[in-house]
Amino acid sequence: MRSYDIIAKKRDGLELTAEEISFIVQGFTQGRVPDYQMAAWAMAVFLRGMNPRETADLTMAMVNSGETIDLSPIKGIKVDKHSTGGVGDTTTLVLAPLVAAAGAPVAKMSGRGLGHTGGTLDKFEAIPGFSVELVREKFIENVNTVKAAVVGQTGNLVPADKKLYALRDVTATVNCVPLIASSIMSKKIAAGADAIVLDVKTGSGAFMKTLENSFELAKAMVDIGAQVGRKTVAVVTTMDQPLGYAVGNALEVKEAIDILKGGGPADLRELCLTLGGHMVKLAGLADSSEAAREKLAALLDGGEALAKFKEMIVAQGGNPDVVEKPELLPQSGQQLEVKAARDGFIQAMEAETIGIAATILGAGRETKESVIDPAVGIVLRKKVGDMVKAGEALAMLHVNRQDKVEEVRKMVTGAYAIGAEAAPTGKLIFGEVTKEGVKRY
Ligand code: URA
Ligand code: CA
Repeated sequence: MRSYDIIAKKRDGLELTAEEISFIVQGFTQGRVPDYQMAAWAMAVFLRGMNPRETADLTMAMVNSGETIDLSPIKGIKVDKHSTGGVGDTTTLVLAPLVAAAGAPVAKMSGRGLGHTGGTLDKFEAIPGFSVELVREKFIENVNTVKAAVVGQTGNLVPADKKLYALRDVTATVNCVPLIASSIMSKKIAAGADAIVLDVKTGSGAFMKTLENSFELAKAMVDIGAQVGRKTVAVVTTMDQPLGYAVGNALEVKEAIDILKGGGPADLRELCLTLGGHMVKLAGLADSSEAAREKLAALLDGGEALAKFKEMIVAQGGNPDVVEKPELLPQSGQQLEVKAARDGFIQAMEAETIGIAATILGAGRETKESVIDPAVGIVLRKKVGDMVKAGEALAMLHVNRQDKVEEVRKMVTGAYAIGAEAAPTGKLIFGEVTKEGVKRY
C-alpha cells in the first residue's frame, strides 16, 4: 500500500477501505507518512467528503493510534457527555452530580479551557481544595462509591488526533464534518464511554455557525456511534448567547449550585434536564428521556442532586461548605457595572465576544501556559429579549486587575445589540438526532 495512491483515490472522489484509512492514520501518527502527504489527504477529504462507513473507520483508526481507558471495573453503563464548546456552559458542573443522583455512573475525563470557552477542570478547581488529579484506582473507586468523579486526562489518548488537528489548523481543513466528527468521537471512545450524549452548539459563539452544519455534524457523530456500538444521542442547542448568566470559573460554580438548589437561570436548568434526560435513558435507568427528565427535575427540587454534589466535593478533597456559603469561593476584588447607552430591547448578543472578554479578565487561557484567575469573569444582567433602560446594568465585571477593564467594558457593550422593537428570547434547543433519525423542534 502507498500513501500516494490513497491520496489520489480520495482526490478522485472514491471510497477508501478500512485498511487504507488505517494505513495512512497509523503511518502519520508513527512518522512514516510525512506532513505534506497527510495535509494533501486531509484536503482531499475536505473537498470530497467521507461516507458514514469511512467516517466510522477513520474514528476507530484514530482510537487505535494510542492508549484507551478501560472503565470496565465501574459497574453500570458509563455515559459521557460532550459539548462542542460554549461560553458560560455550566452544564457539566450540574450534570455530574445530577445524573449520579439518578443512579448512573459519571466517570468524567475533562480538559482545561483554551480560547474563549472555559474548561470543566478549571471550573471544578475553583472549589477550594478540589483536586482533579486522582490516580486511576481512586477515580474508579470514587465512581463506584459516589457515582461521580471528574479528572484531568491522563495517558496518551488518540495521538493521531493531536497531530492531525495541528496539521488541519494550518492547512484550512478544520471545518470539515467527517474530520470533526471523528476527532470528537475518537476521544470519547478512547476515554471509555459506553454511550455518549453530545451537545452540538450552534450560532454566533459556536464552532458551527449555521443550523444546517450543526445538524450535519450531529448526524455524523450519531452515525459513528451506531456503527461502532456506542449508543449516541446529539442535541443541537443555541450558542447565540452565553448559557445562564455567569461566565467565569467560581462564578459558574455558584450558578451551578443555584441550579442544584432548584433555582438558577431557566435556560441552564432546561438544558441540563434535556441532556441529563438522555444520559439517564442511555444508562438504561428510564424508559424514555422524558421520564428521566421528570425524575431529574425532582432530584433538583428535592435536594438530592445538591447532596450528591457535596459528596463529590468531599471525595475529591474540596470544601463542601461552599454549597451553603458560596462566599467561600474565590471572590474578585472589584465588581463593576457595564451600563446600557440607550433604552430598548436586547435584539442579539455575540457570545464569542463575551467569552473573549472573560478570558482577557483572566477567566480563561490565551495560551496553554496562561494562569487563570478563578474569581474573575462576567455576570450578565440582560440577555436576548430583555428590556433595558439607558444607564441600567447590562452586565457586571468581576475583576482583579485594572489594566484591561476599559477594553473589556467596550467589548461587552459592543456584544449587545439594543433596538427599539421588542425581541423574542430565541430558541434554546433546535432538535435532537438519535439512531431513529433527526427530530427538529
Ligand atoms: N473539536 C474537536 O475536538 N475536534 C475538531 O476537529 C473540532 C472541534
Ligand atoms: Ca453560565
